[in-house]
Formats: sequence, structure tokens, C-alpha cells
Amino acid sequence: MRILLIGGGGREHALAWKLAQSDKVEKIFAAPGNPGIGLIKKCSCIDLKLDDLEKVADYAEEESIDLTVVGPEATLVAGIADVFKRRGLPVFGPSKAAARLEGSKAFSKELMAKYNIPTAFFKICEDMETAKAYVKEKGAPIVVKADGLAAGKGVVVAMTEAEALEAIEEMMGDHKFGSAGSCIVLEEYMEGEEASLLAFTDGKTVVPMLAAQDHKRIYDNDKGPNTGGMGTYAPAPVMTDILRLKATERILKPVVAAMAKEGTPYQGCLYAGLMIKDDVIKVVEFNCRFGDPETQVVLPLLESDLADIMLACATGTLEQADVSWSDKAAVCVVMASGGYPGSYETGKPISGLSAAGNKENTVVFHAGTKNVNGNIVTAGGRVLGVTAVDDNIRAARDRAYEAVENIKFDGAFYRKDIAWRALKR
Ligand code: AMP
Ligand code: GLY
Repeated sequence: MRILLIGGGGREHALAWKLAQSDKVEKIFAAPGNPGIGLIKKCSCIDLKLDDLEKVADYAEEESIDLTVVGPEATLVAGIADVFKRRGLPVFGPSKAAARLEGSKAFSKELMAKYNIPTAFFKICEDMETAKAYVKEKGAPIVVKADGLAAGKGVVVAMTEAEALEAIEEMMGDHKFGSAGSCIVLEEYMEGEEASLLAFTDGKTVVPMLAAQDHKRIYDNDKGPNTGGMGTYAPAPVMTDILRLKATERILKPVVAAMAKEGTPYQGCLYAGLMIKDDVIKVVEFNCRFGDPETQVVLPLLESDLADIMLACATGTLEQADVSWSDKAAVCVVMASGGYPGSYETGKPISGLSAAGNKENTVVFHAGTKNVNGNIVTAGGRVLGVTAVDDNIRAARDRAYEAVENIKFDGAFYRKDIAWRALKR
């Protein structure tokens, strides 16, 4: 199988790493890929403009690509799957209409309301007066969300009315997120513990993965501003087998069925961000792609052939695919540039990558790195995701931190408490 992989972050490194383990995969072209992906034997990083989707499809035809796997939401929301499908090219990832589950929070909330899928109460507001009046009526805490894609920054959990009003002013008045904030969703504040449950689907069959837990805040003890995710572990014990089954039956399967019923079948990876409290599960959000860094802990625990599963999703045969999981645990510690998620410097040389990566049951996924004359330097906020697998979460965590200690770069920052909720249990 020849695969085209779109994207170049830690998530895509994990996808490439797992796909390359398949005997059936002969070659992976990653656009743009990253230096970590470039080190995988079967992988080549290519320079392909992603703004012209017809040209991307031309490339897939010229290179006799059997399957295209799309990592980032922006490319899916832009409609890459529609172009590929029209041209008869197998692609893993939802169509533009189906990707609205992530691309428009208003769409996703209305769909959940229509099909009785459990989520927080909400109001969709298209003008500032309505939004402000609703906040004054409901009071705080309240959650303010920009409707469109805002690179993970479009959600404000306001603990006071003033914070909520300020967020509305920024999104709708100052257009902080451009057109993404011209419509907003105001949402009831939910308490509980979060988990990410991702699923494979071909539009009919839904197969959940192992639940993972992300650590969104920058500092230990979940303090400080939100980030893209500072570390993950799987399986997350908050999601017991019974709750996972419940989430599958009450949330994942109904959403996929709803999308089919609406005439916009959903195919690819469906990511459900869930809030769990006293065995009640509600949806926080849907994403139309794999999570980052959830993928870096979920895929190392997948025992089946990822290329087979993805091709089965793309061709509507997931029911026949084998999807089995290891009973081990994985922990990923993200190493970030000092200053992230605010401003940070780049170009810092990184040492110790092979010492860390050569350790047993350890993989160093590249997220924001660059190769400058043979030296790997930092090139982003989240730089690396160091994943280790072991018999249980505690052992996997210790193994991951042991590897992290080998890696040095100027200003390197990472959380010291990844998996604390699991270990506290
Ligand atoms: P989202 O981008 O929708 O995942 O939101 C980012 C983060 O904001 C989530 O991971 C939650 O921690 C938090 N959040 C979003 N919606 C709510 C809500 N209704 N209640 C409490 N926290 C929320
Ligand atoms: N780690 C959160 C996300 O991928 O959206």
C-alpha cells in the first residue's frame, strides 16, 4: 500500500510510525511531514501545497497512492475528502459537510439537541446584544465559544459575568478570531473529569478506541492558560468499560447515525471530548480528526494493522476489520518551548534525542522541530511528545520521564505531573 499522509505535527508522526509497522505498507509520503517522520524508513517528507486540493489529488494519482490519511482539521474543513472522493481516490477523513461537527460548534450543538445526544445546555447567538443579555440572565460560571475554528483558542470558561462579557466583546466586537467568532455559542458550565474518546467509523460501523486523558493547562496541578495539550495517557481509568460502552451507545453511534440520516455521512476518526460526573457522560465537543497528543498514546496500544483499519473506513468495510488493543498503558509527556502558549523563541538545538528514543518501549514524537544542516532544532510551541508504554500507567509514566530527562534544549518546559488523576485513584 502506498500512503499519502497530510500534516506534520506530533499526531502525524504517531500516525506515520504506526502505519509504517504494517507489512502491507510499502511507502508513506508525508506532506509536509517533519524531521521525526523523515527518520522512519518507509517515509519521505514532500513539499506539497495544501491550498490547492485538486493538485493534491493530482499528486495522489501520479504517485499511485492507495490511501490518503488527513491529520489536520483545517484541510478536512476545507473539503479535501470531497475532492478525493469525487476523483475516486480513497481517503481517510470526513467530507466538508461532515467536518462541520468540529468546524461549527453551532452546527454540532444543534445536531446533538435534535438527536437527543447528552451535552450542556446552550444558546446560539448571532449578535452581541442577545449574547450579553443571555449572560446577564444566566449569570456565571458560563462558557463562551466561538462558532468556527480558532486553533483551540476559541473557548472561554468564564467564572464571572464580567469575564463572559469581555469574551463576547472580544469575539463579536473586536473580531479576535475573524469570522469564526461572528456567531458564538453560550453554554452551561459542566463540572466533572474530562476524557477523550476517539472512534474509527466508515459512516455505518463505529469502533471506539481506548479512552485517553489530555492535560490542557500549561502548569502542574492544571494551573495556567490552556494549551493544545501538555501530555496524555491511555487507557483513562475514569472511562470504565461500562462508561465506554455507554458513551459508544449513547453518543458515538447516535452521532454517526444522525450524520448519515442528515445526508452527510461521517467517515474517519471521530473525536468526542467528554465530561464525566457520577457516571453521567456529556459531550464537551466533537473534533473531526485524531487528537494531539491523544494519538501519541492511543496508537502505541493498537495491536491491529492501522492501514487495514483506515482503508476499511475509507471503503465502507469497517465491520470486517480487526481492531484490538493491548492491555498495557501509555503515557506521553509533551516538551514545549519556554513561553508557550504565549510567545516563545525557536531555533534552539535539541540534544539527547537518540539516547531517549533508543530506550526500550519509548518513542519520541516530533511536533515542532526543524532540521538545520543535520541538526534538529526547535520550531514550534509544542516541540516533542515523549511516549512510553509499560504494564501500567505508573510504570509508563516513570519510563516516559526517564526518557525526557535525556533531552535538552534551551528553555525546555514540561509538566511533571502527567497522569496524576489516574495515579490518584
Ligand atoms: P473545547 O475546545 O470545546 O474542547 O473547549 C476547551 C476546553 O474548555 C475543554 O477541554 C474544557 O476543559 C473546557 N470546556 C468547554 N466547554 C465546557 C463546558 N460546557 N463546561 C466546562 N468546561 C468546558
Ligand atoms: N488534545 C486536544 C485536541 O486534539 O483537540
